Amino acid sequence: MCGIVGYLGSELAAPVILDGLRALEYRGYDSAGLAVLGPNGLTLRRRAGRIDDLASLIDEETLQGTIGIGHTRWATHGSVTDHNAHPHADATDRLVIVHNGMTDNVHRLRDHLVADGHEFRSETDTEVIAHIVGLEYAAEGSLSKAVATTLRQLDGAHSILALAADEPDLLVAGRVGAAGGIVVGHNDTGAFVASDLPAVVQHTSEIRVLQANEVVTLSRETAEFTDLNQQPIKRRSMSVPWDPVAAAKAGHRHFMHKEILEQPRTLADTIRPRVTLDPVELELDGFDLPLKATSIDRVVIVASGTSYFAGMVGAHYLRDVAHLPCSVEVASEFAYAPGPISPQTLVVAISQSGETADVLVAVDRARTVGAPVTALVNTPGSELTRAADEVLHLHAGPEISVAATKTFVSEIGLLYLLACKLGVDRNLLGPEELASNVAAIAHAPIAVARALELEPKLEQLARRYHHFKNFLYMGRGLAHPIALEGALKLKEISYIHAEGFAAGELKHGPIALVEPATPIVAVVLDDTMRAKTLNAVTQIRSRNGRVILIATEGEDLHDDLADDIILLPPTPSTMAPMVSIVPLQLFAYHVAVWLGLDVDQPRNLAKSVTVE
Ligand code: G6P
Repeated sequence: MCGIVGYLGSELAAPVILDGLRALEYRGYDSAGLAVLGPNGLTLRRRAGRIDDLASLIDEETLQGTIGIGHTRWATHGSVTDHNAHPHADATDRLVIVHNGMTDNVHRLRDHLVADGHEFRSETDTEVIAHIVGLEYAAEGSLSKAVATTLRQLDGAHSILALAADEPDLLVAGRVGAAGGIVVGHNDTGAFVASDLPAVVQHTSEIRVLQANEVVTLSRETAEFTDLNQQPIKRRSMSVPWDPVAAAKAGHRHFMHKEILEQPRTLADTIRPRVTLDPVELELDGFDLPLKATSIDRVVIVASGTSYFAGMVGAHYLRDVAHLPCSVEVASEFAYAPGPISPQTLVVAISQSGETADVLVAVDRARTVGAPVTALVNTPGSELTRAADEVLHLHAGPEISVAATKTFVSEIGLLYLLACKLGVDRNLLGPEELASNVAAIAHAPIAVARALELEPKLEQLARRYHHFKNFLYMGRGLAHPIALEGALKLKEISYIHAEGFAAGELKHGPIALVEPATPIVAVVLDDTMRAKTLNAVTQIRSRNGRVILIATEGEDLHDDLADDIILLPPTPSTMAPMVSIVPLQLFAYHVAVWLGLDVDQPRNLAKSVTVE
């Protein structure tokens, strides 16, 4: 949610910043801007729209400096206009900041400043912060002190990056609250700072992470970390295994397409380091909870969006394989109404970004009652990796498209491994059962690869259906979360209304919506729910409903059951969620392409939502 980039070095800053912003555009794309400090002082360029619109404003003047900051915005305070785009300057116009977050006490702060004669040129909270940094700078004479003092005055979760014309050889970034990551790194040309890894890994794989209530002062060669009282902090660097090429489109038209197609490999990357088949072994990164597995009385999974639906699949696994009562909670609901949780409740937090504010608040809530937290995270160094007791990394590599795909499949794979691990630790899973489970998950990437071979069929299906205005998605058991995620994918990137529901509920309401103009996507797996879901399909057909059936082959399938049938490769039913989502991802993708929409950056959304 909002992307911050800064550079200070021997290269021209503007192109480096633009590249960084492009790598972070998934975090927000309402407007973009940059400020560069050159021989003629600070030059600002800002524009509502995408990074390419900003790039068209880059001229000789902006190309003069080798130090600068940039921003891509997901609007919170203030509408989407040029004058609300970041960076924002202080009252002297000699200092600029970019900002990620929302200031809860902005009105009070602004009123004080207005009473003191300050005038504002935007409706943003960021400009208010810039004016405060400017005042503190005038008082303190040091940009890092000014940033620290300013951050102490702000309520909410923020990160800011500041540049002052009077200190032309440094950048200062600061952070308060859980949300709003900042990573820094150096290479032999200079220093890089950004909200997230994709903007930095193209320059260096050695990074340091700014934590809550800290400030970092960057020179071309050094990074000095302090707390908000200016006390020095030692911060080790970490090596990020992300290949810069992994964050590029690699010849695909869209990141989403690339990310769907790379799922067999990314799922294998999640699974293979943790299991061996001969001898059968399952090792979860030294998984070591403060609580013994046998003392866990139940599991609560907390997550948002796509990760929440992966959690729904995981709950089935934890109940079936580890015999644990398990509920799945939308993180933003759990955060303020967690219900009765105790130190015996294992809380499993799932987040691709590791930065979703709702998830971080939920985890904080769990920890206040002493519940141990295990986090499943894709982004190394993210806030959730520090907030949890145990971290299981997805290893799915950077996911750039706003609509999550490969991380959904990796989250499910990792949840299955977690369920098996808890099953073993709770003495419920004997060697034979473990061997069969491990064999099943080890083969899942191959089944996913076979599902990808369906793409030409899905493209044609999308061509036929992309003009429909409403879709229903249904499934039962493990297919239920898949139906929900399939509907979410369609609505996120094609803006078509799509609603998912448990197939058993058809008769309790959704059946009233059945008519030929509302196609129903039915997901039917090879499990105990199959006959019942097919009954629901028959009920739809008897009411002239239009059905797209996504199903594993079986004698019970006949042509008049559906208008279109997509046959899934044979897969053990426990693994079927990871396979059956593939055609739904491809369908949503091709519908959006047929509609000519911006697949990777759908309107109003952002990939990391760092505000509540
Ligand atoms: C945002 C994204 C969704 C994502 C959700 C949770 O809303 O647009 O695609 O599923 O956040 O993200 P997380 O990083 O916590 O998995």
